[in-house]
Amino acid sequence: MNLPNLKEARKRTKQEVEHVYLKESYDKIKQGSKYYLKTYGCQMNVHDSEEIAQRLESLGYEKTDTLEHADVVILNTCAVRENAHDKVFGFLGRCKHLKKEKPNLIVGLCGCMAQEESVVNEIKTKHPYIDIVFGTHNIHELQNLIINYNNKQEIDVYSIEGKVYENIAYKRDSKIKAWVNIMYGCDKFCTYCIVPYTRGKQRSRKSTDILNEIKSLVELGYQEVTLLGQNVNAYGKDLDQEISFATLLEKVAQSNIPRIRFVTSHPWDFTDEMIDTIAKYDNIMPYIHLPLQSGSTRILKLMGRRYSQEDYLKLFNKIKSSIKNVAITTDIIVGFPNETDEDFQKTLEVVNTCQFDGAFTFIYSPRIGTPAALIKDNISLEEKEKRLQKLNKVVNEYSLKNNQKYLNQTLKVLLEAPSPKNPQKLFGYTENMKLVNVTADSSLIGKIVNVKITDAKSFSLDGEVV
Ligand code: 5AD
Ligand code: SF4
Repeated sequence: MNLPNLKEARKRTKQEVEHVYLKESYDKIKQGSKYYLKTYGCQMNVHDSEEIAQRLESLGYEKTDTLEHADVVILNTCAVRENAHDKVFGFLGRCKHLKKEKPNLIVGLCGCMAQEESVVNEIKTKHPYIDIVFGTHNIHELQNLIINYNNKQEIDVYSIEGKVYENIAYKRDSKIKAWVNIMYGCDKFCTYCIVPYTRGKQRSRKSTDILNEIKSLVELGYQEVTLLGQNVNAYGKDLDQEISFATLLEKVAQSNIPRIRFVTSHPWDFTDEMIDTIAKYDNIMPYIHLPLQSGSTRILKLMGRRYSQEDYLKLFNKIKSSIKNVAITTDIIVGFPNETDEDFQKTLEVVNTCQFDGAFTFIYSPRIGTPAALIKDNISLEEKEKRLQKLNKVVNEYSLKNNQKYLNQTLKVLLEAPSPKNPQKLFGYTENMKLVNVTADSSLIGKIVNVKITDAKSFSLDGEVV
């Protein structure tokens, strides 16, 4: 059977490198050379960075968390909002400075910003210290770019999405939870969103490849997989042999992995079949991230979201009433062009009705190349910030209220690692994705344990193992 064993895949990448490149060019990477990898943006980027890390390590680089120790710096970037751009160029300033002291330092930029023509032009004309640039469709070129780097800026970005690559080796950040891509790109073209341009059209992986990857993760002892896609509900629509996301989910649920999650769900493609499947299997976690974006039907139309306020509420209620103990979080944008105070009130109305477990809230940021960027951005920043503040206040109140429901209850928590804020405690997540800081022995890391909740805050719970 054609099982892509992860260890095998890792070995294969190394062999490919040794085979394809001349030994002498491979040797120019000195023993003990280090890489510093910084990731911005969504889970897709986090997972891409696991591939980048593996590729760098296959060349002999070792990871460092100290920029000053690095021989290669790679910034894996996000283009969803303008402030991400500013942060990246802010950080690149530090790299430029460091390069003065370490002229052999290789500075690389990849990810969604690398797919933006305006950014590439900016790099070419204003940032000569950026040595290599590669895009979201050609991460596999990384070793090539480094080995062949010849003190000349190299920009290698595929403008057209490539095929779906299989048997990719990853240096996974966790031995407990794993990301699994089920598709790449997005066909939804929401009018404000740059993702379909930076990540390309939707390309689903074959279900057999996904299931084989999950099987090998189960063999390695992983407790949780998160199926990744920009719009997982549309999974399979582009395959020759069409298969629904619900069918894929059902197959994954039968694979003995203790916990299955998935992000992100677009309300438009959310079927009853999906709801039934999630409700049916105990190992599909009752947690759904369901971006609302706006509560105003008029603005939703301008955003090209294909649902109305009513549709969203109907779906929300169906999910809540069908899936036991489900938690629902959302994304909301304020200040989309022409959003009136009345439109914004409609967003608050939906938030008050749904009482989300959490929400990521954003100020609209025009992205060059998207249809919305052509509409005059006619709301002042002051007004947008006012709306965001108002929204955040309500959102946080509901997060706290939802968390308080769990006081004194016993919940199943998958313990992951010492809590970064309090290393005496471990942190983990409940089935419905509540972050819990737990007083527990480190021998319980990687285990699903019963935890009694002793305190509830807006963004986390505290508890004790029982
Ligand atoms: N401006 C502000 N927020 C945006 N998002 C996507 N594009 C933009 C933009 N141009 C938000 C959406 C999406 C989340 C990942 O980022 O809410 O769901
Ligand atoms: Fe962007 Fe819309 Fe696709 Fe989400 S569904 S990635 S918001 S275009």
